[in-house]
Amino acid sequence: MDEITLTRPDDWHLHVRDGALTQAVAGYSAAVFGRAIIMPNLKPPVTDVAAARAYRDRIRGVIDDASGFEPLMTLYLTDDTTPVTIAEAAACGFIQGIKLYPAGATTNSDAGVTDLARCHDALAAMAEHGLPLLVHGEVTAPDVDVFDREAAFLEERLAPLLERHPSLRVVLEHVTTARATEFVRHGPSRLAATITAHHLLLNRNDMLVGGIRPHHYCLPVLKRERDRAALLEAATSGNPKFFLGTDSAPHPRGAKVADCGCAGVFSAATAMPAYAEAFEAAGALDRLEGFASHFGPDFYGLARNTDSLTLRRHPWSVPNALPAGDDVLVPLRAGEEMAWQTVVGPQAGG
Ligand code: NCD
Ligand code: ZN
Repeated sequence: MDEITLTRPDDWHLHVRDGALTQAVAGYSAAVFGRAIIMPNLKPPVTDVAAARAYRDRIRGVIDDASGFEPLMTLYLTDDTTPVTIAEAAACGFIQGIKLYPAGATTNSDAGVTDLARCHDALAAMAEHGLPLLVHGEVTAPDVDVFDREAAFLEERLAPLLERHPSLRVVLEHVTTARATEFVRHGPSRLAATITAHHLLLNRNDMLVGGIRPHHYCLPVLKRERDRAALLEAATSGNPKFFLGTDSAPHPRGAKVADCGCAGVFSAATAMPAYAEAFEAAGALDRLEGFASHFGPDFYGLARNTDSLTLRRHPWSVPNALPAGDDVLVPLRAGEEMAWQTVVGPQAGG
């Protein structure tokens, strides 16, 4: 198979940042994906409908209308988020989820939730209004090893949360462990998970062997090979609980290559070729469309896209860096050859 045409995919977990960085990155996603769930971890975070509307306008302002790309907005859950804010978010029509960052778990999570017990009214309102909770699933206790933080979250936090809110829909974002795939697979149908391209392609050796690779450092951190294999198995299984979310998280090279480098892999520019590579390695290219284009909208209760995207086998060299204002961004697979290319043409955006 040298060419595959899919229903146009969507990205169910994306960071496009703000200001000049949005201008540098949003177009890569808009050229390929029909929609993307936009993460709210700006500084300050996007915590109400007015801020989400203004942010959506800023994103729309830098993308080509002809792309047909639609940013699906989210709010950042805090200890103080009220049921009224949740009701307003559900009513506004352009907010598709509420994001839980445990305080201190990742980039710009300082304003995140310190204790889920403070959020039960907001969570109940989300269940009532049908707004899903999108979860960064890691505990933050200093005595829990960074490689164990996702696994600890499942039993300690997620299981009780699902039990306490029996109709709340939950997306466990960017799963990274075999344990998480099992948890989601055996959980209720209202529980789903996104999987990144980099967690399908890389394990922690790719970050730490032969020198430290800051561009492979992200959160949740890359895990063991057996975890990567389990993620690939889940993504290619045809189980609709697992769908595409790049977690493309651009940081300028100067912030990645530093004494204390930021977490995040910038994958927006190479995402679909990367997913195609992973699915092909598993002999499952025929399952890519479900994962990339069908299961996400089905879970969110949105229509599938009606336009299409073609991927062609046509080896190309990924640039070492892409411009971003005064700095550069280093994309996933920088300086390497990739087998698949997205054919960006009139079919995108229809
Ligand atoms: C993300 C970021 O930089 O905003 N970083 C990351 O490593 N994935 C935050 C997140 O999704 O955890
Ligand atoms: Zn993210």
